[in-house]
Amino acid sequence: MSNADFEKILETSDEWIHSRTGMRERRYAADGQASSDLATEAARHALERAGLAATDIDCYIVATVTPDYQFPATACIVAANLGAVGKAAFDIEIACSGFIYELPMAASFVRSGVFRRVMIIGVETLSRIMNFDDRSTCILFGDGAGAAIVERTPVESDCFLACELGADGKNPELLYVEAGGSRHPMTAEKLAHKKDKVEMSGREIFKYAVTKMVETSRNVLDAAGLTLGDVDWMIPHQANLRIIEAAAKRLEVARERIVVNIERYGNTSSASIPIALSETIERGRIRDGDVILFTGFGGGLSWGSIAWRWSA
Ligand code: UT7
Repeated sequence: MSNADFEKILETSDEWIHSRTGMRERRYAADGQASSDLATEAARHALERAGLAATDIDCYIVATVTPDYQFPATACIVAANLGAVGKAAFDIEIACSGFIYELPMAASFVRSGVFRRVMIIGVETLSRIMNFDDRSTCILFGDGAGAAIVERTPVESDCFLACELGADGKNPELLYVEAGGSRHPMTAEKLAHKKDKVEMSGREIFKYAVTKMVETSRNVLDAAGLTLGDVDWMIPHQANLRIIEAAAKRLEVARERIVVNIERYGNTSSASIPIALSETIERGRIRDGDVILFTGFGGGLSWGSIAWRWSA
C-alpha cells in the first residue's frame, strides 16, 4: 500500500506522509491471511537460518495486538503449524513494545534453565484494525512478522547485558481500540462508529516516545557499563522517522549506526524491531560481539530498551 494508493482514498499526499513520517509504502496481508500465517512464515525463516527443527524450540511466544482470535493464543496455532505440538506457547500483548518485552523474557527463561530455546515472534495484521477514514492514523501502520530464537550460551558469553522496561496505563485511550473487550463489549452501535478500529493521539505519543527512548537507552547503557560509543547498532521501533531522528540526535548516535527501514514497511508495531534486525543480519552487517541497542515504545503506554551483545 503506497502513499499514492492513499492519495486515491483520502485527502493526503505522498509529500505530507513522507515528510512527516519517512514512509513511502507499507505491506498488507492478503485477504484470508491471518497473523498466525505471517508468524509461521517468519518462524520458518528463523529456524532455517539457525539450522534447527521446530521441535528444538521449547517455547513459542508471540507478541501481537492483532491475534487470530480473542483466544486461544496465536502462539499455539503457530507452534501447531510448525509441527511443534506439545511445546509451550503463549501470547503477550504490549502493543509496539512487544519485542522489547519478549526478548528479556526469553533471556530470563534460558538463563534460569526453564527452557533451553525460546522463539520470540512479533506479528501484526494492523490493516484489519485501521479506520480508513482517519488519515492521521491509517497511513502509519503496516502488516508484518519477525522472529528470533534465543538460546542458552555459556555463562561467560552471556549476551543479555541490560534492559529497562516500563509502562504508564493512566491514559489507555492515547492509543487503543475502544470496543470488543470487557470494558466496552462490541455492540452494533460501537461497530457503526468504528470503535473496533485503532484510535490514537499522535502528538502526545510522539513526545512521550522520544523522551522514553532517550531515557531508557541511557539507563541501560549505564547499567551495562557501556557508553554510546560502544554501541555498534541502534535498532529502534519504526514508528516515525522524525521520532527516530529526534531520539538519535539527543543521544548523539551517528546516523549510519541506526537501522531504519520505515520507508518500505511503515509501523508494523511488535514486528518492526525483529524485521529490522533480520534485514541487518541478511546484509551481513552484524558481526559476532557487536553491541546492539534495541529501543521502543507503544500503546499502554509502554516502553523499553535493551543492550544486547550479538552472538550468532
Ligand atoms: O508505535 C507507536 C504508534 N504511534 C506513533 O508513534 C505515532 C506518533 N505520532 C506521529 O507519528 C505524528 O504525530 C503523526 C504522524 C501521527 C502526525 O504528525 P504531526 O506532525 O504530529 O501532525 P499533526 O497531527 O500535528 O497534524 C498536522 C496537520 C493537521 O492539520 P491542521 O490541523 O494543522 O490543519 C492534520 O489534520 O496535518 C494534518 N494531517 C494530514 N494531512 C495530510 C494529519 N494527517 C494527515 C495526512 N495527510 N495523512
